[in-house]
Amino acid sequence: MNTYRAIRPLLFSLDSETSHEFVLACLGAVGRLGPVQQHLSGAIRGRLPQCPVEVMGIRFSNPVGLAAGLDKHARAVDGLAALGFGFLELGTVTPLPQPGNPRPRLFRLNRAQGLINRNGFNSVGLGRFLSNLARHRTAVPIGINIGKNAATPLAGAEADYRAGLRAVYGIADYIAVNLSSPNTPGLRDLQGELALDRLLAGLKAEQTRQADHHGRYTPLAVKISPDLERHDIDRIARTLIRQRMDGVIATNTTITRPSPASSEPASGETGGLSGAPLASLSTDTIARLAQTLDGSLPIIGVGGILSGPDAREKFQAGASLVQLYTGLIYQGPVLIRRILEDLAASLATSPSGFANGTAVHSSDRD
Ligand SMILES: Cc1cc2nc3c(=O)[nH]c(=O)nc-3n(C[C@H](O)[C@H](O)[C@H](O)COP(=O)(O)O)c2cc1C
Repeated sequence: MNTYRAIRPLLFSLDSETSHEFVLACLGAVGRLGPVQQHLSGAIRGRLPQCPVEVMGIRFSNPVGLAAGLDKHARAVDGLAALGFGFLELGTVTPLPQPGNPRPRLFRLNRAQGLINRNGFNSVGLGRFLSNLARHRTAVPIGINIGKNAATPLAGAEADYRAGLRAVYGIADYIAVNLSSPNTPGLRDLQGELALDRLLAGLKAEQTRQADHHGRYTPLAVKISPDLERHDIDRIARTLIRQRMDGVIATNTTITRPSPASSEPASGETGGLSGAPLASLSTDTIARLAQTLDGSLPIIGVGGILSGPDAREKFQAGASLVQLYTGLIYQGPVLIRRILEDLAASLATSPSGFANGTAVHSSDRD
């Protein structure tokens, strides 16, 4: 039985953000029930096809992760891990707490299977985020997505990102540098030529310092927008290579309104659009990146994955890992299993496997 399909009408009868908070609170509670969480996690994971992969030097039990923004405050880490994800990206977390934009700020586009959000980095700030995260027990790799406070001028953005990097360095398996949320004015300008080069040079220096201090290397991945021109994607790819970044996450939400999203009443809301209408913009960005990066660094593909074949398109375009957000809202956690079954079936016919990641063979697993 698909439990999520049964409860979805109830969840969708609530306002989007209320329903989001309700589900996260339930997952948070499950996570706190130690033995129940372990039993659930074991039962769900036991039924998933095994697709281990190594990317950015990290071993993932499978390549399907949670995208940033769903658990911004690290409140439901163990409950989310129990659903079968291969990794979780938490945040975006900003250095200081901030409320984000006024509600309502999250809208469903049901027919198009999309969402529009203008949350604007509502964040509990690094201090609370880290104390929430300190309670987690899961061994699933954790990415932490860092951002800047809305009140910080762009000239001070580097200091905010460095503060985030320093604070999460020792606890994250990788750090995602979010330069692409459309809801923080000016943030996307940090993808511009000079700004990006400077910012990434500063973050690389901070990463090197932290690696010395902690005696371990935590990879840095940069999250980019789907609204870039091709020449900008090429230029960004070259900068990522030059600044020795470890990965790139493509993509965030779009400020455009591709059809069929444009025909829904909520499409007029300001904010970033995610879900099915974003899929091809995101896949095109991944394919372009893959061409220019030519295997120099791995791509984490995200945007409009609502089925196994949608995820397969991302892998075929060049992604080594994928992430989900809006697909989970419309399909529920069964989506993780559907993607892994599809992936296992395609690996059986084409064992060359993942584009840039190294598929871990069963004999290599620990
Ligand atoms: C409500 C909402 C909040 C989001 N918040 C963040 C965020 O804080 N940081 C971030 O990097 N991406 C954020 N995203 C973008 C997602 O991580 C993802 O890149 C995007 O939604 C595309 O994937 P999807 O089509 O599977 O949702 C958010 C998306 C949604 C729908």
